[in-house]
This record gives sequence, C-alpha cells and structure tokens, in this order.
Amino acid sequence: RVPVYLDCDTGIDDALALAYLLGRPDIDLVGIGSVSGNIDAERGARNTLDLLALAGRDAVPVAVGAHDPLTGSFAGGAPHVHGSNGIGDIDLPAAGRGPVDGSAADLLIRLAHEHAGRLQVIAVGPLTNLALALRTEPRLVDLVPRVTIMGGAALVPGNVTPVAEANIANDPEAAAAVVEASWPVTLVPLDVTLEHVLDEDDRSALLASGHPLPRALGEMLDLYYGFYVELYGERCSALHDPLAAALALDGVAATVAPAVPVTVDATDGPGRGQTICDLRNQRQRWVDRDGAHVRVVLEAEPPLGPHLMQTILG
Ligand code: BDR
Ligand code: CA
Repeated sequence: RVPVYLDCDTGIDDALALAYLLGRPDIDLVGIGSVSGNIDAERGARNTLDLLALAGRDAVPVAVGAHDPLTGSFAGGAPHVHGSNGIGDIDLPAAGRGPVDGSAADLLIRLAHEHAGRLQVIAVGPLTNLALALRTEPRLVDLVPRVTIMGGAALVPGNVTPVAEANIANDPEAAAAVVEASWPVTLVPLDVTLEHVLDEDDRSALLASGHPLPRALGEMLDLYYGFYVELYGERCSALHDPLAAALALDGVAATVAPAVPVTVDATDGPGRGQTICDLRNQRQRWVDRDGAHVRVVLEAEPPLGPHLMQTILG
C-alpha cells in the first residue's frame, strides 16, 4: 500500500480530502500534520483527531504544525468560509487522544526516512510545515518521490487577492521555498479545483449514510455551500483539497502537461502570493524548461464528484 503523509488546515474541504484518503483501501495514511490556514494549527489538529475518531481510525498519528507563517503571524483564518471552528460550526464528539509529540515537520521528516522513495506527500494547506521540514532536512527532495499541492491560480483570478489563492497567500515565503526545491511537484490550482463540485444531491446522500463521518461531512457542507452559492449560482462546493488527494493517487487523471517553470511572488507588492506559471507554449520549446520540476494541472477527468462520493460512502 502507498504510504501517504497529509498536511492540512482542517477545514471543510480538508475534511473531505481526509475522508477520501480514509476510504482508499490501497493507501496507508501514515501521518497527518496540521498548519494554520482555514483555522489555527492547534484547532486544525483537533478537528483532524475528532474526524479520525469518528471514522474509527485512531491509529493515524497527527502532529500539530506551524501556528505562524515563516514571516509575520497567523491572520485569523477563514471563518466566513469554514465556520469559526473550521468545520462548519458543527460539534463533533471529542477524540479520546491528543496529537503526537513533535512538530508536523518532524513527523514528515521521520516518515520520509522510514518510507524513503515511496512517501506520497499531499499538502492542502499553507506550505509552512513543508518549508520548515526542507530547512531541517534538505535531503527530503531525494527521499520524497512526489509532492502534490492544492494551491495557486495559474490563469484564473485568485480567491483572496486578485492574483493569490489562499494556501499560497497565507505563507508565500514557504510556498516559494517548496516550489523552488528540486523535488517533483504537482500543483493543483484553482483553475482545475473550481471545475469539480459536489451538489445538494451529494449532500443528501452523505446525510443519509449509516456512518457518522459521511453524516458529519453532510452537516458541515451546509455552511460551505452557503459560501459558494454566490460563485456558482447554486448551493454546491468546489472540491479543492479532495481533488489534490485524488490526483496524487490516480483516482482521477490530469491532462498530461510537461513541467514548467513556476515562481511564487513573495514580495510585498500587489502580486504577493501569486503563482507565476510559465505556460507559454507547453508543447514547443519557446521557453527554456531545463530544470523545471512543477507540473501544473489545468484539467482533470472524469469529474471527481462521483468517485469522491463512492469512496467516502464505501
Ligand atoms: C484552499 O484554501 C482553503 O480554504 C481550502 O481548504 C483549500 O485548501 C482553497 O483556496
Ligand atoms: Ca485546505
């Protein structure tokens, strides 16, 4: 089974990604790190532990990650999108355990050594923990075969500034370091995540499940759908984080594109947090792509919704 490390800011769509991973019998979720983003890292870890308990998966280690970005401090999260507790303001029974000792970066480094050449890293929050881990253990770039990141906006507007997507905007310095490092990165930006959705029928199916985790997801999606109704014109949700998880594990397929140069703007101007993806003529060589190691996913098929629902409902 493929060993997977998940780095997340749980978060409603993070919870969907987690449920997806728990539903994949062919993977081994060997560790989870939390990071401040949708919610602070401490609460994110608690949400993750509570969701794992609901699924009866208390053996998965969860480590608390960075509270603050590499520069500055945590800006307070996204309560208007994810609720004041990160999970749509629903109450979950408290898990009977806490996080493991050590930081999320420590956990990632340990797991990368333990599963050298095999560990799939899936990052669906700000990239602070990954950047810290790279600082401590630069050999990570050789130990980890692929990092799949939900983040950025290549050809579409951002969702927190005109050009920046939330995960990158919350820690541009970290994102720049992670994207610069010479490991194979798959970037899953808003361009593609906004194209994959769940709707009210899916939410009803989750609520009708005999299992507590899908039911809790159905409940928390109520608030998430309320946020997205303005964008889509109907109550539904974008599948940012679950799409990254599914792409990492070939649950859906990305339209093949070569790696391209990607730079993250970490300056203080209006471009801060932008992912500048050099997509000029991907097929011919007008642009020097030597050393490029970031694949930017602009299309994926089939639509994730049915596969996600099937995997979560079991
Ligand atoms: C990303 O930001 C967070 O709000 C979501 O969980 C997702 O990871 C989308 O921009
Ligand atoms: Ca997230």
